[in-house]
Amino acid sequence: MYKSLEKLIREIKMVQCVHSVKELREIIKPLKAQGKTVGLVPTMGALHQGHASLISTSAKENDITVVSVFVNPTQFGPSEDFDAYPRTLDSDLKVVENAGGDIVFAPSPKEMYPSEDMTWVEVTGNITKVLCGKTRPIHFRGVATVVSKLFNIVGPTRAYFGQKDAQQVEVLKRMVKDLFFDLELRVVPINREDSGLARSSRNTYLNAEEKAAAVVLSKSLKEALKAFKAGNKDVEALKALVTDIIKKEPLSDIEYVECYGLPGLYELDKEVKAPSLLALAVRFGKTRLIDNIILE
Ligand code: PAF
Repeated sequence: MYKSLEKLIREIKMVQCVHSVKELREIIKPLKAQGKTVGLVPTMGALHQGHASLISTSAKENDITVVSVFVNPTQFGPSEDFDAYPRTLDSDLKVVENAGGDIVFAPSPKEMYPSEDMTWVEVTGNITKVLCGKTRPIHFRGVATVVSKLFNIVGPTRAYFGQKDAQQVEVLKRMVKDLFFDLELRVVPINREDSGLARSSRNTYLNAEEKAAAVVLSKSLKEALKAFKAGNKDVEALKALVTDIIKKEPLSDIEYVECYGLPGLYELDKEVKAPSLLALAVRFGKTRLIDNIILE
């Protein structure tokens, strides 16, 4: 009875969409003054069930949930898919509403980056140089900068990120610690399609054949986890197991299959002895997909 009433309220609730920092602050300030907790879910839009699980987790844990929808130019390299990145604000608003979010913040690039002379936030060291950092050297500086801006605009109690972007999570955890951001960073498990494919906005780039082929990623990680649980702790052997399975799929083109220690992505010796991240990036046609599992 109580649950259906809650559902009814949710169904009639309209999401508020704001575009300016000033307007968002004016909405949030009195709510915070009333002692309400605020969850922030930063996204680049093209929202899918993976985002919905971040939003609904935030809605359960906070009084107010703010979802930012902003395709952040500074985290895309010159030859990357910034222009092609899907922009679907109308359907995003529906996803936010159905998942229990309250406010969508959808600023323009000019609103977030008013001047070309600007302040960067950059996390240095191995953490941003390995894995995706090797081929996307400016990516994490763009992520850290825009997420810092969002943290400062919203002042969230909690912020939500998906485990699929495992390196991003490690970088942002370090940033929160180093810059003393007063918030809790929450990590939500990878949301997968029935086939095992990790949900991603970039999956929409895949044609049917590539999408079927990409299932090999989660299958290979599952096999590695099985081997690890059966006692295989050898880093190179686990990486080779994943690589060999993926290479059997003719449409795949491996960028990396790597394993690093957690937290902080430190180099491992021969064996996995503590929680470690087994992560991969693989192209199918023009689409670059990432996936990972934690070995612990
Ligand atoms: O994970 C993403 O979608 C983006 O990197 C983020 C965190 C929204 C920053 O633009």
